[in-house]
Amino acid sequence: MSVGIERLRELMAEALALAERGRFRVEPNPCVGALVVSSDGEVLGRGFHREYGGPHAEVHALADAGESARGATLVVTLEPCAHDEKKTPPCVAAVREAGIARVVVGSPDPNRATTGRAAAALAAAGIEVEEGVLGEECRLALRHYEAHLARGRPWVIAKWAMSADGRVADAVGRSRWITGAAARDLVHEIRGRVEAIVVGRGTVEVDDPQLTCRRPDGPALARPALRVVLDSRLGVPTTARLLAEPDAAPTLVIATSASDPDRRAVLQAAGVEVAVVAADEDGRVDPRAAWELLHARGVRRVLLESGGRLLGTVLRVSGAQQIMAFTAPVVIGGEPARSPFAGDGWPMSSAPRLLSPRVTAIGDDALLEGYWPALPA
Ligand SMILES: NC(=O)c1ccc[n+]([C@@H]2O[C@H](COP(=O)([O-])OP(=O)(O)OC[C@H]3O[C@@H](n4cnc5c(N)ncnc54)[C@H](OP(=O)(O)O)[C@@H]3O)[C@@H](O)[C@H]2O)c1
Repeated sequence: MSVGIERLRELMAEALALAERGRFRVEPNPCVGALVVSSDGEVLGRGFHREYGGPHAEVHALADAGESARGATLVVTLEPCAHDEKKTPPCVAAVREAGIARVVVGSPDPNRATTGRAAAALAAAGIEVEEGVLGEECRLALRHYEAHLARGRPWVIAKWAMSADGRVADAVGRSRWITGAAARDLVHEIRGRVEAIVVGRGTVEVDDPQLTCRRPDGPALARPALRVVLDSRLGVPTTARLLAEPDAAPTLVIATSASDPDRRAVLQAAGVEVAVVAADEDGRVDPRAAWELLHARGVRRVLLESGGRLLGTVLRVSGAQQIMAFTAPVVIGGEPARSPFAGDGWPMSSAPRLLSPRVTAIGDDALLEGYWPALPA
């Protein structure tokens, strides 16, 4: 007996709902859900891709099903990976080894370089493959992944913490701490899952942050995130903790060619890496050039934790892909207190509205997440 199409659609819908649980934690990887199902349609195991750098949905579902996966059907929203990924072994091998008899796929792999490769490998191993169950819905769930695939830039997560009245610091620039311990803990978790954390010179001068992942379970990725300061003229003081505590994590300062070579030499002598990129029309580091430099160094995810000046430029010229806006139940008030974005902003009629917005309570704070709308809807 094999599971009929009506039941398969129900199961694929459940796998899609599971995939959603990884949203905003796995990007730029795709959100994927998977179920292991018996021949009479009973669910034996569930899994979804939970976090960037972590195991894929199929691996979680197969582990959940255990020995009962032998001879069973795998229902998965995206064609399993067949390529030799650096972070996780290919899922095709795991499916084969678990003894799965049939694989039902929602969407083929949208990455043209690998489309159909897994389906062919599974078929070659004698596993029945069926594609396109809730195909349209599964493809829609992958649109942000697809839109980002060809860009050659990192996935930028812009994060800020603000008061209930939209201030990111008080009138004299103090911002510690706006949000509570649970929100700050989540930020540390995200820091452990990005390859670079970026701020502007202003944040280094005022806050003197460490920008490390300080969680007992440590960074999830093999190496701690590169700490990056955009500092057009190399004004950052060498006493700043990012520079003075090189053992915590590597630091890269990105400047423009207008920066003083003597100052560059001072920083380099202090063990700090300095890179020079193109300037924007205002003579400051062009964020697009910074992203390209970081991408060329293997950075796929950036957490942008800057103040309003850099954030304002980034969102105006290059966009971020994902927004994490924490709002705390505290009121700061006062006109000099800053908002998350410097600059002129947008008129209400064309103000960017986040896509796929989601609001979650984190302790006493609210977290609003969404995709920046420059990505195709
Ligand atoms: N609540 C929060 O989430 C949060 C987060 C971070 C900071 N803050 C607060 O924000 C305040 C600092 O704000 P800020 O705006 O000065 O910090 P920032 O955005 O981190 O740094 C701004 C500086 O970055 C440099 N930069 C390099 N390239 C740039 C570019 N293309 N566009 C814009 N800037 C560029 C500029 O200095 P050069 O021109 O010299 O390069 C600029 O002055 C502090 O009070 C801090 O506490 C709050």
